[in-house]
Amino acid sequence: MTDENVSRSPRTVAVTAGRPQNDNDPLNASIVMASNFQESGDYARTHGTSTWAALETAVGALEGGQCLSFATGMAAASAILFALHPSVVVLPSVSYLGVRALLGDMQDHGHVRVVSVDIVDTKAVMHSVETAVSEVGADQVVLWIETPTNPTLDEAELEKLCRAANAINVRSVVDSTFASPMGQQPLKFDASVVMHSGTKFIGGHSDLMIGLALTNQPEIFEKLSRARVVQGATPGALEAFLALRGLRTLPLRYEAATKNADEICRRLKAHTSIEWAKNVGPMLSYIVKGGAEAADKVCVSASMIIIATSLGGVETTMERRQKYAGDAHVNPGLIRMSVGIEDIEDIWSDLEQALAS
Ligand SMILES: Cc1ncc(COP(=O)(O)O)c(C=O)c1O
Repeated sequence: MTDENVSRSPRTVAVTAGRPQNDNDPLNASIVMASNFQESGDYARTHGTSTWAALETAVGALEGGQCLSFATGMAAASAILFALHPSVVVLPSVSYLGVRALLGDMQDHGHVRVVSVDIVDTKAVMHSVETAVSEVGADQVVLWIETPTNPTLDEAELEKLCRAANAINVRSVVDSTFASPMGQQPLKFDASVVMHSGTKFIGGHSDLMIGLALTNQPEIFEKLSRARVVQGATPGALEAFLALRGLRTLPLRYEAATKNADEICRRLKAHTSIEWAKNVGPMLSYIVKGGAEAADKVCVSASMIIIATSLGGVETTMERRQKYAGDAHVNPGLIRMSVGIEDIEDIWSDLEQALAS
């Protein structure tokens, strides 16, 4: 991060970071479609491209660390696990089903042992971490934190967990996808690695897949770079360009969507068909009285709000999560909603008529 970016607001940094520096350069990095580079011996998978570098500089400036981009969020997660190479991962029992599936497969292959925890119970989490440390040693343990969690929006005590892990030399990884760099910057709390599915809020328009991993520890950065080279899960040029274009408006989108979500959550809590509702930023989860059938009815009765599994775009989307085998443990009536930037009254009137159905 440059010195100017340290003192500037995230709203400014999102607009200015990663800009080409020379006279006559375009204002934003261009889409470099290249595998091969003349004379230098550079090759895109091993050396990166200026399009990726611009995105990585900008996300790095917002998070306060060095960033690497990957093909998807899952590619970033895979590279992080490959790079840190733990024998035990302490993992939230409620968290993104894809990461749980990856670690479950790794465990089945004998590569890792997974210890599931309730991530909001800091004492119990650290007890599990300490037990693992006593069994295999601190350098073999990774504490994987996802907060807020997908799909129940549980909030971990992020600073306490990162600092407690650090104090006993255990590496912590924070999946910060739901918060985006606007909601939290875990590297400030000495998290070892932060990851994002840039597919979500950073891209922001439901039109790309990309992943990001950040750290401010040079040895970990080297290992992550090596993981990207040898695993080869690099981002596409267009995707990196679009992700940076999306990032430029992340603060505005995140603020507008959060304002909408706060108000919708307030109205849902007062609604007679709703058992529970919570939002953290633009992500909102609510439980409809009447279980799976009632919740499915709400989803299909909405006309503007789209049933869709991804999130973090300008549009409001929702889905009932327990329908997925990987989220079978979630309340059957829970609908996870990613609130967009449409007019609040249009979102509410669509949701209200769907609830009335
Ligand atoms: C919290 C979280 N982490 C990681 C991922 C994976 O990201 P991607 O789909 O970009 O691979 C997702 C996707 O939904 C997610 O919600």
